[in-house]
Amino acid sequence: MFHADSSAAIIEDGEIKFAIAEERLNRLKHYAGFPSLAIQACLDFAGARISDVNHVAIGQDTDANLAKKLQYALANPSGILHFVHLRQRKQAMRNVLPLLARALGVDQKLMRFREHHIEHHLAHIASAYYCSPWEKAAGFSYDGSGDFVSTMMARCEGTRIDVLKRVFLPQSLGSFYTMICEFIGYNQYGDEGKVMGLAPYGKDTFYERLRRVIGLNNGSFKLDINYFKPLGSNQGMQILDDGRVRLARHYSDRMVKDFGEPRQPHTAITQREMDLACAMQQRFEEVFFHLLNELHKHVPVELLAMAGGCALNSVANGRLFEHTPFRHTWIQPAAGDEGLAIGAALYAYHTILNQPHRHEMKHSFLGPEFSDSRIASALQENNLRYRKLEPEPLLEAVSDQLVAGGVVGWFQGRMEWGPRALGNRSILAHPGLANMKDVLNARIKHREWFRPFAPSVLTERQHEYFEHEHPSPFMLHVYKIRPEKRQQLCAVNHVDGTGRLQTVSAQENPLYYDLIRTFEQKTGIPVLLNTSFNENEPIVCTPQEAIDCFKRTPMDVLAIGPYLVSRSDN
Ligand SMILES: [Fe+2]
Repeated sequence: MFHADSSAAIIEDGEIKFAIAEERLNRLKHYAGFPSLAIQACLDFAGARISDVNHVAIGQDTDANLAKKLQYALANPSGILHFVHLRQRKQAMRNVLPLLARALGVDQKLMRFREHHIEHHLAHIASAYYCSPWEKAAGFSYDGSGDFVSTMMARCEGTRIDVLKRVFLPQSLGSFYTMICEFIGYNQYGDEGKVMGLAPYGKDTFYERLRRVIGLNNGSFKLDINYFKPLGSNQGMQILDDGRVRLARHYSDRMVKDFGEPRQPHTAITQREMDLACAMQQRFEEVFFHLLNELHKHVPVELLAMAGGCALNSVANGRLFEHTPFRHTWIQPAAGDEGLAIGAALYAYHTILNQPHRHEMKHSFLGPEFSDSRIASALQENNLRYRKLEPEPLLEAVSDQLVAGGVVGWFQGRMEWGPRALGNRSILAHPGLANMKDVLNARIKHREWFRPFAPSVLTERQHEYFEHEHPSPFMLHVYKIRPEKRQQLCAVNHVDGTGRLQTVSAQENPLYYDLIRTFEQKTGIPVLLNTSFNENEPIVCTPQEAIDCFKRTPMDVLAIGPYLVSRSDN
């Protein structure tokens, strides 16, 4: 709460019942206020009232690392005022009881929960380790910052998460990435993922110079803070009164002196920006692998449980197997800060309450779903003509459209938790048509030309198409596509011959699996192009939002529950 990607989750006896980011309900991207609608949705799904809730856990602990914060504030007097102001504001927002009472319209006296404040990165690590099937693992979390820490290493075993190391601000690998992204004109919260797609277009011209901006340091790293605005002179991330998030400027005048004028947003991208993106990604990976190798010295296992906003860097995730001794990763699909909701809850349950019984998170379909009758009424209210089909004819009709080059809105079952659409709120297309990327960009997604689209592949066929076999059910790894398959997958093959794949199994999502199978029977390709169901907005949640997106954008077909809506009939 009161942090970007505010969210809520509800667990019962250690099992996650429901989880959702507030942005999906109030439609404000990265919303950073109080997650009132998300909390209500959790309670509604569980059939519970707030008076039934035994524990409330929040992935923020303003008292954590207080000594380090004070030490920094005293050494940097210009930041003291900001520090005091921020602390006062956070203390005022710390008291959960009145906030919940107001949000839910319930008398405070009816609530009987125990309250837990879990340090930011502990909640991140818990969100990965406690969702994994493992009894022992190395835990790693990294991002811009959280509770004055940017990186945490831990030993996870049974119901314990023992912190081995914290990297304190202003040292932050996430801030390094954000600073360069801002410098090259991507200054909105969450833009880092876009710039990752730009990196392969660049050369490593600036590599040596960026090594000076961030250096390796005995199992850790060190920023040259002359390139950054001093911490405390801005607020890093500003939360506006309406809950929107704005990034303050991270780069200092020294960046301008060394690298020239920053690129203004929405102007042409030059070779310099591509080269900076390339060197930034390369340096980011080196520091990341250095940290992981350090972690492995302390926890010599092959299993890595990981979260934090930087863990969404799927290129780095795909390469870590070659550069570190870790052989298996379990990365929380909501690796960013919305994931703190389940991390805090699971930490309270397993670690604080010492409950050993675990529930592996096998899929991310933890959001709302809608009955057939509710979908049908939405279609009728919008005067759309539709056909109701059994699963088999539906899959036949949808795959025919895909084979013919159509763009399909695919809305099924429970919404995904986390930033990726994984086959329940997706826009789908043929992965092997040369013009498909341009068609999608021009007609629906309006994305930057350099951003690739992702492939969904049947799990058991992954090895035929990709050069790495580690599964990626949450679309969090980028691997090389086998050279002989790149033509067949040209719409999802990035400029460097890679793809950010999602592996799809029959157990995790049977309907989506069957759709890819049906498509394969017609084309010989066990792969679909999968992009999120939205148009410059949070991913659609309700049938009405899907219908609105279908009406606004020239999609050919909308498959929503058992109903098929064709553009040509409407
Ligand atoms: Fe975080």
